[in-house]
Amino acid sequence: MQTLTIIQPDDMHLHLRDGEALKAVLPFTARQMGRAVIMPNLKPPVVSVADAMAYKARIMDALPPNSTFEPLMTLYLTDKSTPELVREAKAAGIVAFKLYPAGATTNSDSGVTDLFKLMPVLQEMAKQGVLFLVHGEVTDPEVDIFDREAVFIERVMKPVLQQVPDLKVVFEHITTADAARLVMEAGDNVAASVTPQHLLLNRNDLLVGGVRPHRYCLPVLKRESHRKALVEAVTGDNAHKFFLGTDSAPHARSLKENACGCAGMFSAATAIELYAEVFDKAGALDKLEAFASKNGARFYGLPENPRSITLIKQPCPVEAAIPFGDGEVLVPMRGGEQVAWTVQY
Ligand code: DOR
Ligand code: ZN
Repeated sequence: MQTLTIIQPDDMHLHLRDGEALKAVLPFTARQMGRAVIMPNLKPPVVSVADAMAYKARIMDALPPNSTFEPLMTLYLTDKSTPELVREAKAAGIVAFKLYPAGATTNSDSGVTDLFKLMPVLQEMAKQGVLFLVHGEVTDPEVDIFDREAVFIERVMKPVLQQVPDLKVVFEHITTADAARLVMEAGDNVAASVTPQHLLLNRNDLLVGGVRPHRYCLPVLKRESHRKALVEAVTGDNAHKFFLGTDSAPHARSLKENACGCAGMFSAATAIELYAEVFDKAGALDKLEAFASKNGARFYGLPENPRSITLIKQPCPVEAAIPFGDGEVLVPMRGGEQVAWTVQY
């Protein structure tokens, strides 16, 4: 049987939520990832160093006993963020600020209305070596939802990179050939995270034969040519600029199977297994370790994890529903089906 041992991976983009939901989902990530970059879009969002430290303490409390998992904390960029906050964040070990353009996605009401008014904040981030994590979609209602990432590149990403050329930017959860190209052509200060769903699924998987609410996420799944471009990016000559970031984003089943369903796919239960499928199908299993365990750590200036994990090419059933606190359940990616690889825990 085929086995693959790799350095323990990190998840460079993760939504853990809070309270009972946090307790329900954290063990899945903690059992396979060494570290994760924790998204700050709680209600209310994580905007101050004190918020982030308190949230980190709640995460540490919710960890299973003896876990060595380490959460890497981020702050939610708002119109009120200041250069001083960037210096405080750096001193407190916060790794990054996350940009949510106002209205772009789940809990983005406090997001940034005009990024170009925050240039002094971005300049301070560049100076301090604090990363800038970008949800790269415009929210202009005139722009078609499938074009929002490509338009963001022209209207925001390129001008920002020109104005703050030393800023370390992660283009989060990229979904298009356009974003992959931008990252490949940019300097080594620009990288991207890529989710399992955007590597495995296209918009037909969302919409053909009935709407699949559990495959609805933002940025929305794109056409097949974009999915292929992402697979080429993570397995190709510039693969060092791309790394694992699941964007695992749990929502209760009742809020997904709803007349106005929430955006987000929960993939944390079988994250590395799903990525292994992608690299296996592309004939590039030898490139999985760099994507999952090296490129992100290097970009964040962190050492590689000391442990390793072993995957076996053997189908593994995925639970159809997972308890999510308060009597709710959540439906994971591939819920009720199988993944082609199994992690040896
Ligand atoms: O689908 C998404 N869900 N995209 C995001 O950007 C946010 C996330 C969430 O927090 O649910
Ligand atoms: Zn996210």
